[in-house]
Amino acid sequence: MGDMRVLIGIGAALAASVLMGGCGTPGDSGGSSPNAGTAAPSPLSDAATATALRMSPVPPPPPDPTNLYFEDEGAAELGRALFHTSALSKGGNMSCAKCHDPRDSFVDLKPLAEGVLPLERHTPSLWNVAHLRWFFWDGRADSLWGQALIPLEDPLEHAFARTEVARAIHGDPKLRTAYEDLFGPMAPFDNLDRFPPYGRPVPENDRAHQLAREHARRAAGGDPDAEPHHEHLGGSSGFYHPHQRSWDKMSPADQALVNRVFVNVGKCLAAFQRRMVSGRSEFDVFVEGLREGAPEKVAAMDPAAIRGFELFTGKAQCTVCHHGPLFTDYEFHDTRVPIANGAPADDPGRSRGLESLAAFQFGVTSEWSDDPDGPAGNKVKYLPKHRHAGAPEFKTPSLRNVALTPPYMHNGAFKTLEEVVQFYATREGERPSNIPGETILKPLGLSDAERADLVAFLRALTDDSLDLSLVRAPR
Ligand code: HEC
Ligand code: HEC
Repeated sequence: MGDMRVLIGIGAALAASVLMGGCGTPGDSGGSSPNAGTAAPSPLSDAATATALRMSPVPPPPPDPTNLYFEDEGAAELGRALFHTSALSKGGNMSCAKCHDPRDSFVDLKPLAEGVLPLERHTPSLWNVAHLRWFFWDGRADSLWGQALIPLEDPLEHAFARTEVARAIHGDPKLRTAYEDLFGPMAPFDNLDRFPPYGRPVPENDRAHQLAREHARRAAGGDPDAEPHHEHLGGSSGFYHPHQRSWDKMSPADQALVNRVFVNVGKCLAAFQRRMVSGRSEFDVFVEGLREGAPEKVAAMDPAAIRGFELFTGKAQCTVCHHGPLFTDYEFHDTRVPIANGAPADDPGRSRGLESLAAFQFGVTSEWSDDPDGPAGNKVKYLPKHRHAGAPEFKTPSLRNVALTPPYMHNGAFKTLEEVVQFYATREGERPSNIPGETILKPLGLSDAERADLVAFLRALTDDSLDLSLVRAPR
């Protein structure tokens, strides 16, 4: 806790309230902070002032001991090249940057993502992504480096295979040099007898593969017997996926060589994404003003946004889930976002995410982690493997730069921040459910002016200054 910083410049009355754990119960935020002798009285209630001080600035991302290369500059530069290249996709048209465009706050601005095939979920932004505990809307990856491996082999996204990832890097002189500088000489991945194209383990009952198969069937005119070659599932479904067949023909030692390259690619992509940090928003300048007793900085945030923050942390109770410097609790909730954009009505969210995570080959406690027994493992150690009949829960997104990343929610249900706030304020259009949900989510009884203030506050979380090195691949 930043108690020492809190004590500076805020005044004794507030300091006492902070020390007494005065983050306040919603609703007790009546008067404004007493001006206890400093130059800048807070325009917020004591409770809201204390909360604001905890929500800024954004600290540097925490270290990731599961990735030895997490802050290696060479790895980040190779990661930058890999993030932007289309060479790691079937057909050579898809890249991380196509969906997470650094010029557009790392999103595609589409309701639902479109890779090699259409996806069922909305593309999240990558601002401050190295702070997160779980990745994807359903948390089916537990590290940033592990996450990166999933879109590469997802038949809807890059539709690639790990042998082809190794072969593509080996075959590109620049990528290969950068790789070998970091990780030592590559195996002879151009030897097709040992390293077939499109070799990978095909996960059973994987949602993306089911979808790819449905797309293939539809493309074949709905013929249920049409099972186009590439989309056969492995295992118990009775089909032997050709990618799995190629993988099974390889020796375990060669499989390990390919897995090692694949994992290193994830670790480089993670090192690069660590640079995606948001800068100083109006809200951060405002909080600096509170901390330093600087009225001109306090004035950086519009009065409407200041009223909006008071509501955000008070009457509207948004900070129950959107708290801390990233405005998220890093966990999952059922907010009953309406079904929209043709996304499935029965997306199970976190419960399927837990099942996938339990089966994930590249988790933080796996042999591919650089710290399998370390503290990162604690977060997965006691997790249930699935949730029974649970409500569909999705991850609470960070709200930093949220004004730049419409549409909103896991299925892109809302086009604007006004629509989001309208939904929270009225609960109109809520997806019906007979499972008791989050009791906190009730109509808020906000006036039109109050809703506008909340939106003004969300806009004050914007910092669109971008490190230009993120935008392009290295030359
Ligand atoms: C076809 C568009 C598309 C491509 C290509 C793509 N992504 Fe994504 N990304 C998404 C979508 C959609 C999600 C959320 C999917 C879900 O939750 O099921 C996502 C989620 C993520 C997340 C998790 C963010 C969070 O808040 O949990 C990260 C990190 C990420 N992608 C990085 C990458 C990297 C690195 C690549 C390239 C290897 C990549 N993405 C390629 C669309 C894409
Ligand atoms: C019970 C926890 C909870 C509370 C309370 C809550 N949120 Fe959320 N918020 C979430 C979750 C979870 C999502 C993602 C839901 C989904 O995609 O299905 C979300 C999504 C959002 C988004 C969309 C962000 C994006 O990038 O898509 C905004 C904006 C938002 N919330 C603002 C608010 C505001 C304003 C309030 C107060 C009126 C609030 N939230 C209260 C949990 C909560």
